[in-house]
Amino acid sequence: METPAQKSIREEFLPFSRPTIGDEEINEVVETLRSGWITTGARTQKFEEACRAYVGAEHALAVSSATAGLHIALLALGIGPGDEVIAPSITFAATINVIEMVGATPVFADVDRDTLLIDCDAVESAISARTKAVIPVHYAGQPADMARLEEICRRHGLALLEDAAHAIGTRYGDRNVGADSRIAVFSFHPIKNMTTGEGGLITTSSAELADRLRLYRFHGMSKDAWKRYDKEGTPHYDIVLPGYKYNFMDIQAAIGIHQVAKLESFIERRSEIARRYDAAFGGIDGISPLKAAPYPARHARHLYVVRIEDRAGVSRDDFIRLLGRNNVGTGIHFTAIHLQPYYRNKYPHWEGRLPNSEWNSARIVSLPIYPLMSDSDAEDVIAACRLAVGSEGRQA
Ligand SMILES: Cc1ncc(COP(=O)(O)O)c(C=O)c1O
Repeated sequence: METPAQKSIREEFLPFSRPTIGDEEINEVVETLRSGWITTGARTQKFEEACRAYVGAEHALAVSSATAGLHIALLALGIGPGDEVIAPSITFAATINVIEMVGATPVFADVDRDTLLIDCDAVESAISARTKAVIPVHYAGQPADMARLEEICRRHGLALLEDAAHAIGTRYGDRNVGADSRIAVFSFHPIKNMTTGEGGLITTSSAELADRLRLYRFHGMSKDAWKRYDKEGTPHYDIVLPGYKYNFMDIQAAIGIHQVAKLESFIERRSEIARRYDAAFGGIDGISPLKAAPYPARHARHLYVVRIEDRAGVSRDDFIRLLGRNNVGTGIHFTAIHLQPYYRNKYPHWEGRLPNSEWNSARIVSLPIYPLMSDSDAEDVIAACRLAVGSEGRQA
């Protein structure tokens, strides 16, 4: 790899991501620590209600992570051994791992080449007599085509479980993702649009599913732990199924209550940076940003993903190294899951059958996009990208 002779674009490393944590979050965490109640309790309830109201959903349950949420969502939907679940391969491992965890079989549908959202025609072709569910991913903060997916699932009697890990604040039409969902699962991992350290949220329009999810979330216990220790509570409980330990702590809620209140301003700042990137990359040959979904939506701008085209004259991995040398952090979201060792070994027949996933898997890079970045940080990212593809002298 050629090393550019000039000095680094930046003196200081710009991390790929950084959460925006203010005094409000810090003070509330301290208050929680001093309060005598740090695990699931009143603050968690307050956080769930704030998220429920923000999304516009009927029911909202905070969980320890989106992975945990997706896992118990599959269980609550009754998915298990012998069942097939259709999902994209361009996603985080958790989306597919949970299918394996419940003993079902993942079936991959290719994604659209330019949005990386699940291709609805590919979903329809992947349906078999064993298919029980579809898990679309609202990739990067853009919504999958829910009207089509709902119609397909209704027609074939399939459950629709939305992996909304990237999508808090995403809108499909004028409705928030998760507002009308049978089940949607959000992530509050630190790189997400809002964070609780680690954490997730399940929204559902079904009271019955919400009840089942509550059981799976906490040991299958018919009464939440904190109610048992309440003034009015009794220490007795029934175990009605073998559930998990996927509850959410008040320490996390102390952060989340303030994050959800700031979420719209976070998305606004992310959108400003995205507009700056869009304007610049329109003029740099060899770097192709993803495209907007062809239906009314609000992109929550969780990730800003570009593809390093073959004509850029630099491989994706060298591009990442060159950005690193210029003190710009990057990410890859994601290497196609069917090419990961476990899945490649277990299901070798997928390789070569998902052309858009494989093409993108080799070329995608995620650039820094978060509210703490200044305009000048964003300009440094653009300058480093331009330098990496050697395009100062050959702009499109
Ligand atoms: C698409 C997708 N699904 C699920 C998850 C899992 O989220 P969590 O880290 O909260 O378990 C992630 C995390 O990055 C993700 O990107």
